[in-house]
Amino acid sequence: MKNTTQSHNRQINFLGTEEFKSEVVIEAPGRINLIGEHIDYNGGHVLPAAIDKKIKLSFRKNNSSICTIYSKNYDTSFSFRLDEVKPSDEEWQNYILGVVHFIEELKPNSVKGFECIIESMLPMGSGLSSSAALECGMATGIKELFDINLSKEQIITLSRDAEHNYVGTKCGIMDQFAVVRGAKNHLILLNCQNLNYELVKSDFDPYQLVLLNSNVSHNLASSEYNTRRQECEDALKVVNQKYPQYEYLVDVPEDIMVGFKEELPEKTYNRAIYVVQENKRTLMAANALEDELFDLFGSLLYKSHEGLTTLYEVSCNELDFMVDYSKNYDYVLGSRMMGGGFGGCTINLVDQDHVAEYIAGISKAYKEKFNTELTPIEVNISNGVSKIN
Ligand code: GLA
Repeated sequence: MKNTTQSHNRQINFLGTEEFKSEVVIEAPGRINLIGEHIDYNGGHVLPAAIDKKIKLSFRKNNSSICTIYSKNYDTSFSFRLDEVKPSDEEWQNYILGVVHFIEELKPNSVKGFECIIESMLPMGSGLSSSAALECGMATGIKELFDINLSKEQIITLSRDAEHNYVGTKCGIMDQFAVVRGAKNHLILLNCQNLNYELVKSDFDPYQLVLLNSNVSHNLASSEYNTRRQECEDALKVVNQKYPQYEYLVDVPEDIMVGFKEELPEKTYNRAIYVVQENKRTLMAANALEDELFDLFGSLLYKSHEGLTTLYEVSCNELDFMVDYSKNYDYVLGSRMMGGGFGGCTINLVDQDHVAEYIAGISKAYKEKFNTELTPIEVNISNGVSKIN
């Protein structure tokens, strides 16, 4: 594929950040997900929230047909012409190019030349969806800068389309939805079949959410992700031969799915049964939270992890170790890997009075076992993408 973008390995002149007078500034949050993993693309329910770790994007017009993007974290920039937008060999550029492409597809000739500085306070590759933050932040910034009539739903879906077609990950809708629709102190119980959602108060008192970044990223994430999605589609196809009424895998009742144990290849069956069970767990978890049944909620987190590791096979030794360690302590009600998997964070529900002790203990044990530091990440549940200037 011919690369039509131009990369600069240093900050280029006009972006000498001191004199950069932005016209629009956007903050785009990362997201967490309490439960409901790998079921968004199977039509399931998920329970994500936007967080106060964000990417800041500053924009200004340049009255040309060229766009230049500078990443402060990587001290690198690239430029592209608006009449030559196509995928690049550099992955991070594709999040931006994809968004510009799909805005132009929806609203032809609406995007003009601009410059943008990106600064991320969101750890990359930790399962907090820095990619959706970048896509939705970019789309919102362009919309504001050129006053383009794009709805929130359009921003969510065009950002997802950018990831599918420019980055190549066939993700679901959860991350983009949470980044755009996030609401302070609320989780989003989202039905991914029709994007109906309900806000659930995120009040865990006397417990607290603790994120622990394993600091490993196994680089399998994108290819294995697409394979899982394909396996789910394969399972549904077989089920549909007998039961054409089920449009999504999560719609298949568990007892019917169990009936396919012999018929499906073992792996495919495992993926499918996980999906059906995880969707049920998510709905139970949302109810448990509303009834303040934190023990039940925590036990569902543990069960979700068990499914992700043994049936869906998207965990890794480091994450399994962290979850197993947590089971030794009654003050941890639940723990599981979060996001696409193969590294990133665990999410843990911990008694407030024992958080420091827990972090100290698990950090030491993890270091001894893997000779890697784990990083606790403090998060508060915040609003979705917003224009701050
Ligand atoms: C990634 C994807 C989401 C979702 C999760 C797993 O974050 O972008 O769509 O599938 O993995 O739940």
